[in-house]
Amino acid sequence: MRIARDLSELRTIRASLDGTFGLVPTMGALHDGHASLIRRATKECDYVGVSIFVNPSQFSPGEDLEKYPRTIRKDFELLEELGVAIVFTPKVDGMYPPGFQTWISVDDVTVPLEGECRPGHFRGVVTVVAKLFNAFQPDKAYFGQKDAQQAVVIRRMIKDLNFQVEPVICPTVREADGLALSSRNAYLNPEQRKAATVLYRALSSARNSYENGEREGDVLRNVMRSVIDSEPLAEAEYVSASDPETLRELQSVKSGSGVLFSMAVRIGKTRLIDNMLLS
Ligand code: PAJ
Repeated sequence: MRIARDLSELRTIRASLDGTFGLVPTMGALHDGHASLIRRATKECDYVGVSIFVNPSQFSPGEDLEKYPRTIRKDFELLEELGVAIVFTPKVDGMYPPGFQTWISVDDVTVPLEGECRPGHFRGVVTVVAKLFNAFQPDKAYFGQKDAQQAVVIRRMIKDLNFQVEPVICPTVREADGLALSSRNAYLNPEQRKAATVLYRALSSARNSYENGEREGDVLRNVMRSVIDSEPLAEAEYVSASDPETLRELQSVKSGSGVLFSMAVRIGKTRLIDNMLLS
C-alpha cells in the first residue's frame, strides 16, 4: 500500500498503475460501512484508491469539523488488510491552496433535506469529489446509500460535467439492532446509543405501512414522526417521503416511481441521518 500525502505524489503513484481503478472517497474514522465499499471496489477493479480527507468546506460554521473523529493509524491498518493500492491523505491547504475560489454547485436536488439544514454542504462535497476524480482518474467510484442525497447529487454532477466515472452505490451497513454505521455514532453515550435505534425503527414502520398498501405521503411521514416523537432523547430535524430521483416530497407514491424515506434526527447534540429506499 502506497501513501500519497499530496497531489504530486498521488499522480506519480497513480501513473505507475496500469489497469482498472476504483476510488472510495472518505473522511476517515473508518468502519465496516466504509470497508464494504472498499471490498466491493477490490472485487470489481484491479486497483483501489481511498482518500481520507476531513473536508472543511462541507461543514457549516458551528458543526463538528474540529471534533470529527480522526483515527488515521487504525485506518491505515484496515486499508492495508483490505488490499488497497493507494491511500491519499492530503492537507487542507493542499486541496484548498491560498486563492482557491472555484466551486461546483448542483441546483435542484441539493435544495431540500440535507441541503436545507446544512447550507453550503453539497457545494463542498461536490467540489471535493470532483477534485478527487480529477486527481485519481478512476473508472469507478464507490459511495454509500447511507448518504442517499449525496449519492443522487454526485450522480447528477457526473452526468452534467461528463466525468468518465461510473458511480456505484452500495447498501447501508447496519449494526444488529438496525443503527446505520456512522463515524458520528462515536459521539453517543450508552443511553443515547440505545435511543439512536429510533431512526431504523421509524423507517421500518414506514416500510411496513407501505407494504400494507399505504401510499399517502403525509400518512407515511406521520408514521415516522410518531415513532421519533415516542423517543424522549430524539428530536426530528426532518422526516421525508420523497421521489428517489428528484427528492421532492411526494403527495402520494405512484406505482413505478418508488419512494425514499429519509430523516435527520438529533440525539442530544449528535445529528444522525438514515434512509430506506423502496422501489
Ligand atoms: P464519509 O462520511 O467518511 O463516508 C464515506 C463513504 O462511506 C460515503 O459514500 C458514505 O455514504 C459511505 N458510508 C458511510 N456509512 C456507511 C454505511 N453504514 N454503510 C454503507 N456506506 C456507508 O461521505 C463522506 O465521507 C464525504 O461526504 C465524502 C464523499 C468523502 C466527501 O468529502
